[in-house]
Amino acid sequence: MAAFLHERELRRTVSKTLSLVVPTYRERENIGPLVERIDRALTGVDYEVAFVDDNSQDGSAELVQELATKYPVTIIVRKGQRGLASAVVDGVRQVHGNAIGVMDADLQHPPEILSHLLSAVHMGADMAIGSRYVKGGGCEGGGLMRRILSKGAGFLAHLFLPSTRGIADPMSGFFLFKSELLSGADLRPTGYKILLEILATGRPQSVVEVPFVFVARERGESKLRLSQQVDYLKHIASLMRRTGELNRFIRFCLVGASGVLVNMGLLWLLTEYVGLFYLISAAISIESSIISNFVLNDFFTFPDRRAKGRSQFFGRLRKFNLVSLGGLCVNMAVLWTLTSVFGVYYLVSNLFGIAAAMLWNYLVNFWWTWK
Ligand code: GDD
Ligand code: MN
Repeated sequence: MAAFLHERELRRTVSKTLSLVVPTYRERENIGPLVERIDRALTGVDYEVAFVDDNSQDGSAELVQELATKYPVTIIVRKGQRGLASAVVDGVRQVHGNAIGVMDADLQHPPEILSHLLSAVHMGADMAIGSRYVKGGGCEGGGLMRRILSKGAGFLAHLFLPSTRGIADPMSGFFLFKSELLSGADLRPTGYKILLEILATGRPQSVVEVPFVFVARERGESKLRLSQQVDYLKHIASLMRRTGELNRFIRFCLVGASGVLVNMGLLWLLTEYVGLFYLISAAISIESSIISNFVLNDFFTFPDRRAKGRSQFFGRLRKFNLVSLGGLCVNMAVLWTLTSVFGVYYLVSNLFGIAAAMLWNYLVNFWWTWK
């Protein structure tokens, strides 16, 4: 007994090359085959597996204790708490590997690519992601609906969280990272998407995606429910707030409001005092408000995303103008559709038109003008 404790103590203090955190909820039938395949895939690597189980009461804990006589596995049983992301965070906080990995227990994540992920991190990547959406990767079964939801979720992340851009599969639950990445990161897991949380708060500099095929589940059942889609939206909103992206959007809206004042003020001044024909005043005041919006956004909304230099500045101004022209079309299209097709009162339609154009302007400018 003393020797056993001693060995466990040692395991906790000497850091492993790789600590794998595996969340489980009612996965007993999968744990045995998973551990065997991980062990085979990581021959020669000093690794450990920490299962984080939410009190499944299906014999998982006993099974892991039995496996522990042969393999470097432990299990943390959480009581009175449920949730994939929070289980992962609890696990990550308790392991000491130089590299930390996260994967599912249900064998939908093939352990055989662990060595590829690990070597990517050894070669210098901060993070290596098992990816379904790069060449060679894929998704077995799952149905069209799941695919659409997954792609849609990834698209939303790319739109609203710039730290996920350039990553084909930010929704993956299979990844490895250097443990330093999380020192000081403030992880507040909600829902299912722990990778998003780590990408947004850990801000890895170099990320490698390794293709894998997300195979169909053979045993047990998925715990994913519809409510998790709603949680996902809340998670994006929470990350936008915490990473300052919400703030950015608000600034953009304020600048837009100032543009309305510039536009109206100039229209009035030029028509009443300079005596220009009102359509000419309008053309001048519209372009002036576009320019003032651009300058304000360049300084206040996107200070972190602008490349220096005169030609860069005018390049952005040109793009901003084009995007604004697009915004005008969006506004008109919504106005016309709501009013002429659905019979909505035109002033109400226009409010929707303005909101749509605002969103268009924000997203396209964010994506293109200040990329
Ligand atoms: N501790 C704990 N608590 N573990 C959980 C919980 C929970 O509340 N819910 C699920 N798990 C475990 C499962 O036992 C499994 O090992 C893993 O988390 C994934 O759960 P599944 O229910 O199999 O999820 P999925 O296959 O629908 O989703 C997977 O694929 C997504 C990509 O489409 C996950 O890997 C997601 O993270 C991933 O985004
Ligand atoms: Mn699964």
